[in-house]
Amino acid sequence: MSSKPKNWINPILIIALIALVVIQFFQIEKVNPPYDTGNDFLNSSLASTEIKTIIKDACYDCHSYETQYPWYTYVAPISFWIKGHIKGGRQHLNFSIWNSYDAKKQHHKLEECIEEIKANNMPLKSFTWTHQEAKLTDQQRTLILDWINSKMKSIDL
Ligand code: HEC
Repeated sequence: MSSKPKNWINPILIIALIALVVIQFFQIEKVNPPYDTGNDFLNSSLASTEIKTIIKDACYDCHSYETQYPWYTYVAPISFWIKGHIKGGRQHLNFSIWNSYDAKKQHHKLEECIEEIKANNMPLKSFTWTHQEAKLTDQQRTLILDWINSKMKSIDL
């Protein structure tokens, strides 16, 4: 029986390491696009500071142009994965351009927010691992659900 060379894994490790170094040159775009702050959902609402803080902490990193980029967003491939969340989040719902949505869309988006929060889908689990402040307590969840609900009902369709 011929024995396997002892160092057979090394070339693979070396290639993986080189790849890891090379992808660091591909940094994600971290500049938030300019936008009209007058169109922002929370800016143009009468929500209490408490509610605004909860929603900002829990949703705005992915659903607005006010994304904050921690150190690990400089590390590929984690950064590629996070960028995907920000891109997808903004596509589905962007609070920074809220007033450019028509009443029907606003109503529908708030309805979806309620569903997603109730189902515990949002904020994404992978986000709350690293953002303790985004982890909603039952009390915070109830507070924002009630508020979003009343906001939704105030929209004239
Ligand atoms: C880490 C990023 C991230 C955070 C934080 C986040 N979301 Fe999302 N959200 C996404 C992504 C990505 C999608 C796109 C659909 C998917 O992948 O599930 C999405 C989709 C949605 C949708 C649309 C669902 C649909 O069917 O179109 C709603 C509504 C939503 N999020 C609400 C929220 C609310 C409310 C918060 C805060 C409580 C929040 N999200 C926090 C990333 C995020």
